[in-house]
Amino acid sequence: MAEISVEGSGQFFACARSDTLLAGGLRAGLGMPYECTAGACGTCKFELLEGDVEVLWDDAPGLSTRDRAKNRKLACQCRPLTDCRIKMRFDEACRPLANPCNQTAMLIATNDITHDIREFRFATGTTATFLPGQFATLQLPGVRGTRAYSMSNLPNDEGEWHFQVRRVHGGSASNALFDQLRVGDQITLDGPFGMAFLREGSARDVVCIAGGSGLAPMVSIARSMASTGQLASRRLHFFYGARTQRDVCGEALLESLPGFGERIRFYSSVSSTKEQEDPCWSGRVGFIHEYVAEVVGANPHGHDYYMAGPPPMIQAVLDTLQKLHKVDKSQIYFDRFF
Ligand code: FES
Repeated sequence: MAEISVEGSGQFFACARSDTLLAGGLRAGLGMPYECTAGACGTCKFELLEGDVEVLWDDAPGLSTRDRAKNRKLACQCRPLTDCRIKMRFDEACRPLANPCNQTAMLIATNDITHDIREFRFATGTTATFLPGQFATLQLPGVRGTRAYSMSNLPNDEGEWHFQVRRVHGGSASNALFDQLRVGDQITLDGPFGMAFLREGSARDVVCIAGGSGLAPMVSIARSMASTGQLASRRLHFFYGARTQRDVCGEALLESLPGFGERIRFYSSVSSTKEQEDPCWSGRVGFIHEYVAEVVGANPHGHDYYMAGPPPMIQAVLDTLQKLHKVDKSQIYFDRFF
């Protein structure tokens, strides 16, 4: 263990040498700022004032040349080699409600959702504690580093963590999951992480917007609203933006929820130009952010927005909600992945 003291805050925490500073701080229940946990967003920057760290990814895009010149580092990409003194601003909003835990998980089942999205169900020996909308990181055999995937199920005493993963062409992690991992195999699972979890205290209706493998956290939010009685007072508009007709998914996972069709409405749209010429597709064609704008139309401020999916989709929705409709950012929840 290394002792990490945080300049100016009076805080310090013990960090395992095998943990990143970010994971160590969050395990200690501290409000370490972060988004991606993967070196890309730059949110977890800190200054190393004393001590030595192992940098896991030298060229991580979360740091600019200026950052590097100022000896700034990324807490999600540094492991302590010695005790350290660091400078970092804590963010109370990032204080974990459930401290992340690193544990062994066994693959217990798989289930195909579309031609390229598959659900992987893992079980650990302890209660699965997380909030709907959060994610965990998986360490997969033969894959360098970890990958973040969101849970699609609800917290449970059985210790089950379900992930819906899209196969990425040439992606080592998704290929390891799809092609190598067999039921009974074990991996390392760390979590929960993420700030885009369902806020149950709000009275506003909810809009969930998913694209690609962003389906899972939105399904978890829908399941939570249905199981906790939230749908009695709040409606849910669930959007799925797909590239082509065969990529459309989500509706079958929601149909069994009480209130589907009345309190839960499902909307999908395909964006591919080719699909516009496909006579089999009778649904909507166009970008999902345009569909969202149309549905929330007269009352964009009366909703909370949760989204997960490809960065261009996230940006287009943000532009629509914030620039066009002036929706306050406190009503929009997403974790930024790159
Ligand atoms: Fe560390 Fe995103 S770069 S959390």
